[in-house]
Amino acid sequence: MANKKLRTPLCDLLNIEVPILQAGMGGVAFGPLAAAVSKAGGLGTIAAISPTPARVEEEIKLVRSITDKPLCVDIGFPARAPKDLSEVQLDKMPEPLERLQKEIEELGVEVKPVDDQAMSIEDAKEKLEICFRHKVEVVACALGTPKWAVEACHENGAKVISVVGSARHARSAIRNGADVVVVQGTEGGGHTGDVGLNTLLAEVLEFATVPVVAAGGIVNGAQIAGLLTAGAQGVWVGTRFIATPESSVGPNYKQSIVEADYDQTIRSLLFDGLYVRQIKNRYTEVWEGHEDEMLPYPLQRKAQGPVRFAAAAADLKDHQALPAGQGSSVIRDILPAGAVLERLVEETVAQLSSLQNRVQFG
Ligand SMILES: Cc1cc2nc3c(=O)[nH]c(=O)nc-3n(C[C@H](O)[C@H](O)[C@H](O)COP(=O)(O)O)c2cc1C
Repeated sequence: MANKKLRTPLCDLLNIEVPILQAGMGGVAFGPLAAAVSKAGGLGTIAAISPTPARVEEEIKLVRSITDKPLCVDIGFPARAPKDLSEVQLDKMPEPLERLQKEIEELGVEVKPVDDQAMSIEDAKEKLEICFRHKVEVVACALGTPKWAVEACHENGAKVISVVGSARHARSAIRNGADVVVVQGTEGGGHTGDVGLNTLLAEVLEFATVPVVAAGGIVNGAQIAGLLTAGAQGVWVGTRFIATPESSVGPNYKQSIVEADYDQTIRSLLFDGLYVRQIKNRYTEVWEGHEDEMLPYPLQRKAQGPVRFAAAAADLKDHQALPAGQGSSVIRDILPAGAVLERLVEETVAQLSSLQNRVQFG
């Protein structure tokens, strides 16, 4: 539990000690990270979009064996998605991918076909049932917040967080009954929109009838103090928690975040055909000038699958996709998740406390 006290009404709503929520991050946020954050008084989240239902259940059990504090599970509800990516036919491999594959193979890494079943409503329903069986306290909805899912969560005693990147989506999530809206600015890592957090937060606060949580590029307490002052009730922090021993990616991925300089992330369709922010490296470089060869979602996801999974499994620094936010340039250390949370709280309290010395008002 954090040494300093930092509470907002969101803490009462979610039954947590400090208003810092660790973001759902595919391939990164499993049981160890979620448990560490929840145990320290924040809200830990298991990213459940891509893993199989059985894996999701294992991760929930792992968290429950470590802490009985509230847990969040992040599930994707895509409006338009094929049930099975194997139904999606690829006519031709884009040339940049062929080049990437060749380079990866030259590094001695085998590129094999992958079984990528991600993102269907059937899959989401199965994962919801698992959450209900284990009395998961909070469900985060990504890629849409359908009314039926919110109602099912409420019937089973779970609160619903909706993660959105636009005011339009925030409005529909609130209409559909979400208890909390997370507004993710374009600064954020992973799938991200094009509106900056500053503007998006102001837009959504104009009409929100539920607590609004800020996300995108948040890596220190001075930022959190500013966002709380602006009206957010908490923060949803992703990239900062990748650079922890508890996150499930390899050391090269973590180090890439610590070493990232200014301007080193790019928002592009290259990852899966939807806009994703990631760190620039050889993986993004091969696509430069080949934007017209990027396929629409989910074709691009399917095309990239074998190369992306092989490079990630081998933790290749230059050749793996490294989704991360613009805040990477301010992250300078790999620190246990509980210590990250503690530091964020201390910095926020210090920043808020110092305000009266630096700003005159009245
Ligand atoms: C590696 C990575 C994977 C992500 N995967 C997901 C995901 O599976 N589901 C989701 O709702 N958001 C996902 N996101 C977005 C995060 O939930 C969050 O909104 C974002 O990380 C906040 O910005 P920040 O990274 O700058 O803190 C991902 C972000 C990253 C960096």
